[in-house]
Amino acid sequence: MAKHKIVVCDHIHQKGLDLLAKEADIELLNASSVPKSELLPLLQDADIAITRSSTDVDSAFLEATKKIRAVVRAGVGVDNVDIDGCSRKGIVVMNVPTANTIAAVELTLAHMLSACRNFPGANDQLKNARLWKREDWYGTELKDKKLGVIGFGNIGSRVALRAKAFEMNVIAYDPYIKPSKATDLGIAYTSNFDDILACDMITIHTPKNKETINLIGKEEIAKMKDGVILINCARGNLYNEEALYEGLQSGKIRWAGLDVFNKEPATNNPLLDLPNVYVTPHIGANTLESQEKIAIQAAEAAIEAARGSN
Ligand code: MLT
Repeated sequence: MAKHKIVVCDHIHQKGLDLLAKEADIELLNASSVPKSELLPLLQDADIAITRSSTDVDSAFLEATKKIRAVVRAGVGVDNVDIDGCSRKGIVVMNVPTANTIAAVELTLAHMLSACRNFPGANDQLKNARLWKREDWYGTELKDKKLGVIGFGNIGSRVALRAKAFEMNVIAYDPYIKPSKATDLGIAYTSNFDDILACDMITIHTPKNKETINLIGKEEIAKMKDGVILINCARGNLYNEEALYEGLQSGKIRWAGLDVFNKEPATNNPLLDLPNVYVTPHIGANTLESQEKIAIQAAEAAIEAARGSN
């Protein structure tokens, strides 16, 4: 009997790979280390592909795949998957929606704390310049600051609760929830976006789609408080990067903590040149705990899809 071929396009935890490898009816191709320019020919006879955010399931991907039946997104975001294109070809798209929630939440808190206390700057000065200049590192506290949370789903709601534990005044904005979802948790809710723009710190936790691309642009930044702190551990493009750059350069925005960028890998992004930007390379989902869960759930979904489509 012919085996089902599953191609793993991006890095996933070994436990997921082991699960796929032990199935007698599965042929596993781990292509996670293959340069992206060489990936497409390997997909030609794939039945299932497992992808993360480094592999775009775009028209070139769909063109290259001749018999693929399902794409399993090992993570939550499907913004880099051409869902319409997949539907036209009868390809099922699945994701693993909640396994990385805590990882993304905790990275957001790390960015918030870093922005207030300038960990990277203080670390660099002491380790690389061997300077002990305590006077250079006066930060601010989270306590009593107003945090605006855009998007109150799995991740946003947990960020809000943790921020509350830091004694922040948290206000949530999400046109897709009932206000009681926030207020029942003791979090203030607003349907007026300007209330969010008036906060000391803003963090965004929405998917990337037509409604949220450039949600924060020049006009919104102009309305913000001077010295606002912006965090984005969700998706690139939600903050307009040119407007962000201008705001950071002028000092209107005090700090930005960014895990995600319009174009990734973001090694040439001009935002990297600014001293008041803290960056991480899209590692929101990268904890041992979440990667193990994601890989296992993605592998199970892939095996089920492979067998189900016999
Ligand atoms: C997600 O959407 O869950 C993450 O971006 C996945 C990833 O890290 O590739």
